Amino acid sequence: VKVYPNQDIASKKVAERIATLIKAKQKLGEKTILGLATGATPVGVYKELIRFHKEEGLSFENVITFNLDEYYPMKPNAAQSYVAFMNEQLFNHINIKRENINIPNGTLRENEVADFCLEYERKISLYGGLDLQILGIGRTGHIGFNEPGSAPNSGTRLVTLDDLTRRDASRDFGGKENVPTKAITMGVGTIFKAREIILMAWNQKKAAIVKKAVEGEISSSVPATFLQLSDHVEFILDEDAASEL
Ligand code: GLP
Repeated sequence: VKVYPNQDIASKKVAERIATLIKAKQKLGEKTILGLATGATPVGVYKELIRFHKEEGLSFENVITFNLDEYYPMKPNAAQSYVAFMNEQLFNHINIKRENINIPNGTLRENEVADFCLEYERKISLYGGLDLQILGIGRTGHIGFNEPGSAPNSGTRLVTLDDLTRRDASRDFGGKENVPTKAITMGVGTIFKAREIILMAWNQKKAAIVKKAVEGEISSSVPATFLQLSDHVEFILDEDAASEL
């Protein structure tokens, strides 16, 4: 666990780690395979990566990204889609190739989802696995959209969103009733296979769930507790999110 005075400093540290990784891989002539997250938490990291690109010439030409999750159903051009979020917060501002961006497809028919999910896993493996996965944490203890009840070896799949998650998303959708009830998410097992995992959390409202995730009993009722089982996970926190540790 690393605690920084505030989320700006913490976000810069995470962005520096990502930039260093990209540059190191580039020198070796290798691609960097990044697992990306949505939500308010990683926005500062993306801002800093954009700054590295614009001011220091950091290139994303050899970067492949896999996003954790997407609401289901969800049209990519809808304002609340994670496709729109990623375009606005990062992809539109850097030189990533469109074909290197992977986000779960919220437009599939329900009978197509299982195959899509297997293919998503296969594609990650074909690239040799994720070099680094960044995560936020939901107040239910979810990582990605792995809600309470998720198994530690779960793969990419269609899940039902927890009521608290839908309430937390209600502002974006103009009311909880408009928040989709389902999502496609990488599994806990998918996340675990990443060679490095960084979970970030800011603000007082995350303090209680951060305490459970870091110090609580390992249980599927708080999926983020499974991260305690891994030796390549870091929790990067601001002082408020760490205040109950
Ligand atoms: C969202 C995302 C998660 C994210 C979490 C926290 O629903 N699916 O990947 O980590 O909830 O969101 P925020 O960063 O806005 O607090």
